[in-house]
Amino acid sequence: MSDPKKLYIKTYGCQMNVYDSERMAEALGGQGYVETQTPDDADMILLNTCHIREKAAEKVYSELGRFKGLKAAKPDLKIGVAGCVAQAEGQEIMRRQPLVDLVVGPSSYHHLPEMEAKTRKGEKALVTDFPEEDKFAKLKGRPKAARGPTAFLSVQEGCDKFCAFCVVPYTRGAEYSRPVETVLSEARDLVERGVREITLLGQNVNAYHGAGPDGDEWSLARLIWALDDVDGLERIRFTTSHPNDMDDDLIEAHGTCDKLMPYLHLPVQSGSDRILKRMNRSHTAESYLRLIERIREARPDILLSGDFIVGFPEETEEDFQATMDLVAEVNYGYAYSFKYSTRPGTPAAERAQVDEDVKSERLYRLQDLITQQQRAIQDAMVGREVGVLFEKPGRLDGQMAGKSDHLHAVHVRDASLSVGELRRVRITESGTNSLAGELA
Ligand code: 5AD
Ligand code: SF4
Repeated sequence: MSDPKKLYIKTYGCQMNVYDSERMAEALGGQGYVETQTPDDADMILLNTCHIREKAAEKVYSELGRFKGLKAAKPDLKIGVAGCVAQAEGQEIMRRQPLVDLVVGPSSYHHLPEMEAKTRKGEKALVTDFPEEDKFAKLKGRPKAARGPTAFLSVQEGCDKFCAFCVVPYTRGAEYSRPVETVLSEARDLVERGVREITLLGQNVNAYHGAGPDGDEWSLARLIWALDDVDGLERIRFTTSHPNDMDDDLIEAHGTCDKLMPYLHLPVQSGSDRILKRMNRSHTAESYLRLIERIREARPDILLSGDFIVGFPEETEEDFQATMDLVAEVNYGYAYSFKYSTRPGTPAAERAQVDEDVKSERLYRLQDLITQQQRAIQDAMVGREVGVLFEKPGRLDGQMAGKSDHLHAVHVRDASLSVGELRRVRITESGTNSLAGELA
């Protein structure tokens, strides 16, 4: 038997891409590829790319430039671009960087095996369709190996919301939900391979409406309750949600489903109604705050996280202040904030832009406030007892690292612990980015 070919995948952007990269590696596994951690000995390099902000998209071209030497030394090396830059730029990528052999969009990667075969014949391969068929159903590869205790599972893709700043509806296409049975069988398979925590993924995951075995459309809450019945699965999370799709059943599940973890990522983007309207968000700051109130009634200790954009076109100091006020009122355990980045083809790209300096200054102020909140919430865990799922050995001798129910990183020094254990831990210390504790 000949040596296996080596595949190097580099993943940019969101968790959905992390999941997609795993599935791409599995699909190419059927073609005799095994994964390698470095591009240097690879027979194929795949960049799984992100188009959400300008910087992310530009990184791809600088990274590709760096492979010139490798390709010169090994002409058989195939280089591919996958993900949202592939979808958005298609053929243009091969024009701009001729060493690229293969371009595949996020809805088309079930074609990878035949595309790889084409590149082996010295031809270029490009597929960026939004096909009618379900790529997940078409994905075939080698049997899947044992894996760590946590996993992502994509259940929904695409977005019909068309926020004025966002490329997702164009790069990932219309909303699509995977059928319930395929999600459940993938979850059972993951659990058999050692997984104890599953994070359900979707660009708009709480808009999930997959076809159920009973012929009904199932909501995300119903799917979560079905996963709750899977023996061996201990924890369920989901991300990313839109405020307008937080239905009553999903809010209630946060209070009643023990396996559903007390953490919710619920982006609001801005605290100014004027800006929210221009962003086409279809909710107000007030409606968001009332929603948070209801979620906290259902699950008082829930940790909230959010996304914010500063310097959206026409944002005034007063608008920005409204965002600061909203953040102060919510009190986030985590939050991600970004300077508005112009994305070609989106409605906001055409509007009056805010000065770069002003954006930077607002970002600094917002991140300062968020960091303080984050830190205070983390510090308040000291003295509490929390569940921790241990994922890997820590840096110190006899130390294990894991995540708490609230998604804080936790370190425990105890030689008896092993990867995959879910234990109660008493938190004793709060560091810069993690907690330390001892087994309860
Ligand atoms: N500029 C800056 N941030 C953006 N996001 C999406 N599009 C843009 C853009 N054009 C942010 C939003 C979203 C997160 C994934 O990325 O906050 O929730
Ligand atoms: Fe983009 Fe999210 Fe808005 Fe959809 S809901 S357009 S993915 S920001």
